[in-house]
Order: sequence, then structure tokens, then C-alpha cells
Amino acid sequence: MKKVFLTILTSLLFVTVLRADEGMWIPALLQRNEAEMQAMGMKITADDIYSINNSSMKDAVVLFGGGCTGEIVSDQGLLLTNHHCGFDWIQKHSTIEHDYLTEGFWAMTLEEELECPGLKAIMLKNMVDVTEKILFNVSDETTDEERAKLVKENINKLVEEMQKETEYKVSVESFYQGNQYFLMYNEVFNDVRMVGAPPSNIGKFGGDTDNWVWPRHTGDFSIFRIYKDGKPYKPDYHFTISLKGVEEGDFTFVFGYPARTNEYLPAVAVNQEANVIYPVVVDLRTQILNIYNKYQEKDAKVRIQYASKHAGLGNGWKKWMGVIEGIRNFKGIEKKEAFEQAYNDWCMHARNRMKYMHALRDFAPVYEEYEKYRMATTYFTEAGLSIEIIEFAANMAKLSGVTKDTPQEEIDKIISELKEVSNAFFKDYYQPIDEEVALTMLEVYRAAQPEDFRPEILNEIDKKFKGDVKAYVDYLFGKTMLTSEEKVNKFLDEFKPSKVKKLEKDPAVVAANSMMDFYVENVMAKSRECNTKINNLRRVYMEGQMKMIPEVYPEKRLYPDANFTLRVTYGKVGGFKPKDAVTYGYFTTLDGIMQKENPDIYDYVVTDRLHELYDAKDYGRYADKDGTMHVAFIAGNHTTGGNSGSPILNAEGKLLGLNFDRTWEGTMSDLIYDPSICKNISVDIRYVLFLIDKYAGCTRLIEEMTIDE
Ligand code: ARG
Ligand code: GLU
Repeated sequence: MKKVFLTILTSLLFVTVLRADEGMWIPALLQRNEAEMQAMGMKITADDIYSINNSSMKDAVVLFGGGCTGEIVSDQGLLLTNHHCGFDWIQKHSTIEHDYLTEGFWAMTLEEELECPGLKAIMLKNMVDVTEKILFNVSDETTDEERAKLVKENINKLVEEMQKETEYKVSVESFYQGNQYFLMYNEVFNDVRMVGAPPSNIGKFGGDTDNWVWPRHTGDFSIFRIYKDGKPYKPDYHFTISLKGVEEGDFTFVFGYPARTNEYLPAVAVNQEANVIYPVVVDLRTQILNIYNKYQEKDAKVRIQYASKHAGLGNGWKKWMGVIEGIRNFKGIEKKEAFEQAYNDWCMHARNRMKYMHALRDFAPVYEEYEKYRMATTYFTEAGLSIEIIEFAANMAKLSGVTKDTPQEEIDKIISELKEVSNAFFKDYYQPIDEEVALTMLEVYRAAQPEDFRPEILNEIDKKFKGDVKAYVDYLFGKTMLTSEEKVNKFLDEFKPSKVKKLEKDPAVVAANSMMDFYVENVMAKSRECNTKINNLRRVYMEGQMKMIPEVYPEKRLYPDANFTLRVTYGKVGGFKPKDAVTYGYFTTLDGIMQKENPDIYDYVVTDRLHELYDAKDYGRYADKDGTMHVAFIAGNHTTGGNSGSPILNAEGKLLGLNFDRTWEGTMSDLIYDPSICKNISVDIRYVLFLIDKYAGCTRLIEEMTIDE
């Protein structure tokens, strides 16, 4: 009796968590959500969003540059995405004379739009459930290895067959951990040109300081255009832009390409992630970022040199801190455990459910084994390879394989690659930072990893340097040639196979090889083995959950984890309470930019032009009805990395803004979703248009858009 009561109680506990705004839905199956979306306020149909027979909104959403989302906003293929998504291209087109990162870029005519060789936009044309074809021959008796082989064969066969019949790019994607498969037809656009970008102090306003943070004031957009056969592309659909803005409680949805989530992991896995691995990564990165900060504050040149490195490390660092806190405050592990109890109870009720129970039970020993290897990987990549000279040496070590029999062409190719690596390395290298990072990271690496399970070089610090890391670091930087651009260039210019020996004696190369050898010999294969086991268990556990959840929690609909395929997520506009006594409003305005302004802090510089417009309150039709210029807003859409640049749409499917971030309090939504704190951040489309129109005067772009006043 007590047991039954407990089960009901834990079920109830879990049910409270399952709320409408959770979920990243497969657009082809959106019919199932239509009633709920309409009950929440949506005025259009699922078919308006995704249809294969008629033009629909899916014909205006693309995977941009392989990692972001973009949306088409005119019948001439005009495309919007985030500034941080277009960043690389803005940077690539920048020179000293035309510094588009600093000044912004606006193509005033079609001819001025800049080609971006290599940049792709990919559009989903159709997706078809092919699970039966892919799992043909697979039964309960099939072993994991056989299954993997069969699935691979079936996929290859189907793709080959289907590719013959279509001009679109065909692929098969796995959903629900290999429990469902879809055949995808994608149109690939290879000619995407850069059309516009605001200056970085608008497009990146708040920089890394404000990253993941609400309230936010970033004008995070850039503009591109898809071309086909050398002409602006004529899409089947483009979004209408709404100038009406949002109000608390408004229905919204986000349409885009979320990359990865892991919502169905067992408690042991979430615990390892959030309480074992992330804390180490965060701690290591905190130490490195502190060193960067110290030197960046002192020297403007160093600030620029380390800006991108800082942003790269800082993005994950901040996000994972949010995950750790969120899981703790929101009792993520306890909730998972309560769910697992209900799951086990469900398994107990029928004989044929035993395999599901075993899958869940079998995770613990694998994760226990995996921890050692994950830790070793973490220290190798986060501590070892964040010493820049070691990472550089790891690249140079590519020459190790060269012998007197290696064809000259091959050598030339390696040398020319290494010259590029070397140029990039020295352009942004500041040795005092690296020496300090090396000292700090080698100390922690050595202290954290057991003597019998670490790269030889760490033991040598004990043997040859009496455990004095400083003495070793002095020796390393004193003796290596890799800190000297002149020596490296000379070495590469005059390279002969007989010089490999000399390179291999370089202390930085010795250290890099020692770390890489250890990783390859002792960690990599074992990690893979654990991963394969885990993936097989996850597949069975997922299958169990797909059967159990509809029976035990009939009100909950399942959705597959994000896998870089097109998804729809929906939720309402609104603020939230991140912690005791703190309440966040749901939108920000230009006033906030002026409040944050600080000419001495790079992230908070405001241009004169923006001041003029602000002082004159010259917002035109882009002002909110409250008279202010709205900049950003938050809503309860379940998004993740890859959703950057995604359109956020209103009840009528009109464009309200561009998704660009989440609030860091809710970043645990990749593992567990809590509607009270998981919010997505979007830039208001009215601010975007105001900048294009009033700030930049690029009115030709405004004219080609369809605008609903
Ligand atoms: N946090 C966002 C994302 O995950 C934006 C990152 C770029 N912006 C920045 N300030 N570093 O990608
Ligand atoms: N900035 C992220 C991106 O580049 C989106 C934020 C998130 O992770 O939700 O995709």
C-alpha cells in the first residue's frame, strides 16, 4: 500500500514538471500539437507551418552556415540571422580600410552584396518516416553489434536508392536514440551573400559580460541573401514582419535547427554531467579566464588578441555554471530519481518489460567506468590543450610522420597548412599569458590525475624537476623554438625530413606528444567502448520510456531530443523570478542601453549615431505603443544552441524577432526543462528594422520586406 501511494506521489511530482512549453517538435508531425497551440492562442494551422503540398513557413527557414538558423524575409531571398552567426563572414570581409566588425556593413545596392564562398544555407523540403525500412530485419534477438551493422547497411542502401530519384540532398536521421528514423530531403544553397551587419557595439552590445544574461540589449542580427543561378532566390514563402510587438502572455513559436539536447538521460548520467564533469571544466576555465582578464585589462592589443579565445571559452563556461546551479536549485537529480522509481514500478507489472528495467539498471556500472576516462579527456583537452604552445606543438607534430620516403608534394602540403596555423597562432599569441596558463594548468592537471594514469610528462616534472612545475615551465618556454615566429618560419621554410628529429626534441613537442600518446593509448578506445554501451542502453531505455510515459502520464506527449533537424517549439511571452525577491520584466528598451553605456568599457560603448536617434526619439513606426524603442524580449520557448537566428513568430505566424540566447538560470533545459526559469531571448524585429532603416539608411531592404504595421 505504502509503495503504491509512493508511486502515485512521485508520479504527481513529475507531472507538475510536464508543461506545455516543453518540447522541440518534429514539424512533419505538428498536427498532434495543433489543438494545444491553438488553445494557447495560435490563430493559424499546423499546415500553415509545415506542408509538403503547399508552400508553408518551412520554405522560409534554413540551416545557416552549418550551426545556426536563418529566415527568409522577402521574395528576393533576403535572409536574417544573428550577428554572432554571421560574425566569421563579417570578420573575413573586414580589412584595416574596411573594418566591418567595428563600422558595420551595409550593401546599398545588390551589386555591393559580398560573396561568401563556402557559406551554405540548407532548406528542408520533405521528411518521411522510414523506421520500418531502417529497422527491417532487426528483432529483439538481434545483438547490439548486429543491429548497428544492419542499421548502417539499411541506411546506406536507402540513401543510395533515393538519391538517384531526386535533385535534393538525401539523408537519414535518427530520432529517439535510434527508435525512429526519417528520410530527409534538403535543398542546398551554395551562393549566400553578405548584405548587412550593424557595428559590433550594437550587434554584440554587452559582449561576453552580458552573454546568457537577462536583461539583455544586444542587436544580435546580420543580413544575408540567398542566390540561385547567380540571381536573388525566389522562395516559395517568406515571413511577413509584424510591427505590433509583444505583450505578456502572448503566444509565440520558434522555428529552427536546435543542435543537441539530452532530456531522457538517467539520473546517474545527469549527475555525472552536472556534478562531476561540468564543475571541473568550469573551474579550469575560471582559472584561465582570470589570467586572460588580468592581461586583457592591461593592454588594448592583448584585449583584441584574446577576445575571440575569451568568447570561445567563456560561452560554455557561463552556460555550464547555469546548468550546475539549475540542476541543484531545481532538484533535477531528485526529479529524475522519482521518475525512475515510477518507471521501475511500471516495468515490474509485466514480464516483457524486464529488458527496460535492466537497461536502466545497467547504466550505473558503465557510467562509473566511464568517469575515469571522461575525466582524463577533460584534463587533456581543457588543461593540456589550453596551453597554447602545446596545442601549437600538437599541430607541428604532424611533421613527425615525414620520412625521406615521403613524396615532396605531401610534405609541401603539410608545410603550407602549418604556415597558416603558425600565422594565425602568432597573430594572437601573448607569451606571458601562455606561461601563466601553463603553470596553472599543469599544476592542476598533475594534482588531479593519479600517478599511474597520466601523461608521462607530468611524472617527469616529479622526476626531473623535483615536482617544481615552475622550474619545468621555465625550461619549457626557455628551450622551445615554438614561441619564436622567426625560428618557426625558418624551420618551415628550410624543412627537410632529416629535421624531424630536431622537432621531436623540442620540449613543447615532447609535452604535446606525451599528452596525445597517453590519450590515444589509454583513453580514447575505452571512452568509445563506454559510449557504445551507453548508446545501446539509452536506445532501450528510450524505447521503455516511449511505452511507459503514455501509460503512466497520458497527458504528456513525447518529443525527440534535438539532433540538428528542423523543429518547432512554442511558449508564451513573459518575465520570471530567477531567485528569491528578484523579478525580471519581459522586455528591454533603448533606455537600458543608455543606462549600461560606458565609453571606457569595450562591451558598453554606444555610437554617436545611436545617441542622436535616441535623443531625438526618432523611432518612426518602429516605436512601441508605449513610445519607447523595444530591444529584446523573453518567452518560454524550449530552445538550444543552433536555434540562434531562429524566427520567433506570433499567433499569426508573423515575425516578431530573432532568437539569440537563453537566460543562464535556465540553461539546464538541455537536460531537464523547467518552465518557471527556462526562457529564450530574442531581439525585437522592430529594433532590427529601426537599425536598418533609421540608423543605416539602408531603405532598399525595408522596401523589399512585407511589413504588417
Ligand atoms: N550564448 C549564445 C550562444 O550560445 C551567444 C554566443 C555569442 N555571443 C557572445 N557574446 N559570446 O551561442
Ligand atoms: N546562442 C546560441 C546559439 O548560437 C543559442 C542560445 C542557446 O543555446 O539557446 O545557437
